[in-house]
This record gives sequence, structure tokens and C-alpha cells, in this order.
Amino acid sequence: MIITSLKNSSKTANLIAKKLKCKCIETEIKTFPDGDIYLRYKSEIKNKKLIIVESFQPNSNEALYNIVFAGKTAKDLGAKQIILVAPYLAFMRQDKRFNSGEAINAKIMSELINNSVDKIITVDPHLHRIRKMSDIFKIKSKRLTANQAIGNFIEKNFKNEVIMGPDWESYQWADEIAKIAKTQSTCLEKTRHSYRDVDVKLVKEIPIKGKNVIIVDDIISTGNTMIKAAIKAKKLGAKSVSCVGIHGLFVENALKKMKKHFNNIFTVNTIEHNTNKIDITDTLIKEIKKK
Ligand code: R5P
Repeated sequence: MIITSLKNSSKTANLIAKKLKCKCIETEIKTFPDGDIYLRYKSEIKNKKLIIVESFQPNSNEALYNIVFAGKTAKDLGAKQIILVAPYLAFMRQDKRFNSGEAINAKIMSELINNSVDKIITVDPHLHRIRKMSDIFKIKSKRLTANQAIGNFIEKNFKNEVIMGPDWESYQWADEIAKIAKTQSTCLEKTRHSYRDVDVKLVKEIPIKGKNVIIVDDIISTGNTMIKAAIKAKKLGAKSVSCVGIHGLFVENALKKMKKHFNNIFTVNTIEHNTNKIDITDTLIKEIKKK
């Protein structure tokens, strides 16, 4: 088995390789002067089980393109099995045609991946209207969760805390994590007015006054969902407000805006970022090791 990464996940790939005591090979990826992609495996991959570790951020469009080229080239070079470990899988929020004429991103992305690798492993994908990975992936697929790692982290680092989901979709994570951390959970209801404008209201009453509130969501993109939830938690009398994002995208200066509202900002290392405090590689490794 050999490991490689493309542009986004070299730290994670090296960590996985070190823990598995196997080789992490370099894949050269750059552009020709006209902008066309150039990709070259710098070691022999024929008859090898190749693990491509690549998160779909930053720059999801480029990441998808790079993964397709890496997967197809590996097939062409005779790799025995090609497993894509994409700790963050993008394109999943546009899972239907909301307005006429729109592309359904999740479907197109999955078709490209189906044709490029043999298996995909990911962490807490944004499954909403698409219920399970096998609805869009014809290849083997595995959906892992960071719930246990987050729950353990919270139990170890917080006291007198409650877990808050900023919307109903996130409550699945918030509730499960609260059980692991042996604490209570609450939920807000979110109304989205636009990509960047949301409102929230409390729908599950628990005591919040004087508590250390930890807001948990799968994706932090513009950060506006988290900020609105933090404002609500403070209004309800929270002693401190922290957030845990599984996938920290932090687009459009999100982190800078969020720092004004949060005592702590933590993420899982599904996207490499300096807020990464929760390590998911052991969970990934368990799945990579399977036949
Ligand atoms: C949406 O359904 C997700 O679970 C997140 O709540 C959302 O992606 C966060 O986006 P933003 O940070 O832009 O508010």
C-alpha cells in the first residue's frame, strides 16, 4: 500500500502514512504555461493499493479535477486498487435543482468519481435530500463520522457545557455528540434568506444561563450560521460560547468575523487549517486497513 496526496492534504497524508508505517509518495501536480493540468506519479504504482488522500477544500473545483486526473492516471498505470480518502467531500449541498436550469452538483461530482477510483472514504458528508452515499456512488463508499472524536474532545476539555445545533440538520451531530460527552443538547431552527443571510430561533428548551455553550455544525462556510447561533446563545445567558466545526471552510473572512463572537473556535482536521484541534486520522486508518 502506498499513500499520496495532491494539493490540499499533504499533512494528513503524511500523518496517515507515518501511523501506518507505509510510504507516502510525491505526486507532481502543476500547470502547463497555458493553464492545462500536468500530473505525474514520481514512484512506481503498478500493482499497488494506492490511497489518494485529498480533501475537497480549498478550491473544490480544482480538487475535483485533480482527483479525476490522479485516479484515471493510476488506473492507466496499473494500480491494483485506488482508494480516494476525501475527509471533506464538497458539492453535496447542491443536491437538487432548486431553480430551473441549475446543475445538480452532487450527481455530477459522484459520476466523475465513480469513473476515476475504486472506493471513496469520507467524513460526515452533507447528506440531506440524498440519504446515503450509495444513492450517488456506484463504487464502494464509506461514510465515517467525527462524532466520537468530537465527543471525547469536549468531555476532556470542557466543564458545565451544553451542546447546541444551529439548525435541525446539525441536530443529528449535536445530539449524538452530547450523548458521547455525557451532557445535554439543544437545537435552533434556521431560516435561510440567502447564501449569506440566516436567522435562528430556539426550538428545544434546556437551561442555558451560566453554561458553556458549544455550537456544533458540519460545515462552517461564511460563518454566518455560527455567528447567529452565538448571538442567540449569549442572549440566553451563556457564560461562554465555543464552536466546533467538522469541516472548516472559512470562506470570505469567516474566521475573522467569528472571532468577535466566540471564546474558542475548533475544527476537525478534515480540511487542513490552524483551527484543527480534533484528529480524525485514526478513524480514517481503520477503514483504509480493511480489505
Ligand atoms: C447547512 O445546511 C450546513 O449544515 C451549515 O449550517 C452551513 O453550510 C453553514 O454555512 P454558513 O457558514 O455559510 O452559514
